[in-house]
Amino acid sequence: MRVNGRAMRTIWLNDNGWAVDIIDQTRLPHAFEIVTLKTPEEAAHAIKHMLVRGAPLIGATAAYGMALAMHRDTSDASISHAYDVLLETRPTASNLRWALDRVRAALVPLRPDEREEAAYRLAVDLADEDVAINADIGRHGLPIITAIAEAKGGEPINILTHCNAGWLATVDWGTATAPIYMAHDAGIPVHVWVDETRPRNQGAYLTAWELANHGVPHTVIVDNAGGHLMQHGLVDMCITGTDRTTATGDVCNKIGTYLKALAAHDNGVPFYVGLPSPTIDFSISDGVAEIPIEQRSADEVTHIPGRLENGEIATVQITPDASPAANYAFDVTPARLVTGLITERGVAEASRESIAALFPERIRQSA
Ligand code: MRU
Repeated sequence: MRVNGRAMRTIWLNDNGWAVDIIDQTRLPHAFEIVTLKTPEEAAHAIKHMLVRGAPLIGATAAYGMALAMHRDTSDASISHAYDVLLETRPTASNLRWALDRVRAALVPLRPDEREEAAYRLAVDLADEDVAINADIGRHGLPIITAIAEAKGGEPINILTHCNAGWLATVDWGTATAPIYMAHDAGIPVHVWVDETRPRNQGAYLTAWELANHGVPHTVIVDNAGGHLMQHGLVDMCITGTDRTTATGDVCNKIGTYLKALAAHDNGVPFYVGLPSPTIDFSISDGVAEIPIEQRSADEVTHIPGRLENGEIATVQITPDASPAANYAFDVTPARLVTGLITERGVAEASRESIAALFPERIRQSA
C-alpha cells in the first residue's frame, strides 16, 4: 500500500542484500521510522515488543529471522537456536509456528553451504505468498461488499473493524482490510468504523493511519461504541482479522472481538473474518479451551502513549498507583457467531466441513 504516495510493504530486504528492514509500528502514527534487523535476536525483539505485529507479519518476520540466523552461522545448532528464540516471542498467532516449521523443515536436510541462500529465498517467497493470499482475500470479500452496496442503492456502506488487520498486520493489503481497499478502489462508497482497540490502540494508531493514507473515509470510535451503532442501524457489516482459527471455525482475535460478534449477532449484522490459511490451526477444535491467550504487561493498561501539543511523544499513567491491572490480549469468538470466513480460496462457513472442503490438503497434513 502507499505511504505518502510511495508504494511500500511492511518488511523487505535492506539494500545491503542481507539485513531486514521493518516499519517500527510502536512509533506510528506520530513518527514513521524504519528499523534494520541484523540478527535473529533482533527479529525476536521486534516481534515480542510489537515493532512488528499482526499474525501474518509475525510469521514473515520469523522467516526472515531464520534467514538472519543462516547469514551468521549455517550449523544445525544455529537453526535450532533461532527457531527457539523466535518461537517464544508471542504465543497466540498460528502463523509464527507455521512459518518457523516451514523454514526449518526446508533447511535441515540441506548442506550447511546451501542454507543461507535457501533461507533468504524461503523468507522472500513466504512474504510474497502472504501478499498474494491477502489480495485473494480481497477479491473474495469484494462481492460481499458489492452486494450490500447494491442493496443500499449508493448510500455509503458502514463497516466496523477491530484492532489492526490491515496491511501493517501483514506484508501488504491486510486481511480484513483487503476487501475494503478493493471496494474503495472500485468506487464503492465505504466508510469504516475503527475501534480504538485498547490497550495498545492498534485501531486508533494503525488502522486509522492506514485508511487515512489510502484516502478511505473512516471514524475512530471507542471500543464500547459498536453495540450502540449496531442497534441504530449504523453498521452494515463487521470484518475482523484473526490470529488463530480452529479447524471448526472458532476465531481467536484481539481482545474485544467476541463482544463485537455478540452485538452483531443480537442485531442481525453480518460478522465476517478475513482468514489467510496459515492462520488456521488444523490441530485444534475448541478455541476457548485450546488456544493459549497471551497476557501482556499491565503497563499497557495503566499507561497510554500519545503526542503532546508541543509535538513530543509521551506516555502518561491513567490509573491509580494502587490499582493492579490485567492485560488479556486476545479472545475467542465461537464459530456460531461468525457469518463467514473470507479465505484466499473463497468464503467458508465457520464449520469443520466448510473449512475442510476449501483446504483438504491441510487436513491431510495435520492428520
Ligand atoms: O497483538 P497484535 O497487534 O499482533 O494482534 C493482531 C490482531 O489481533 C489483529 O486484529 C488481527 O486481526 C490479526 S492479524 C491480521
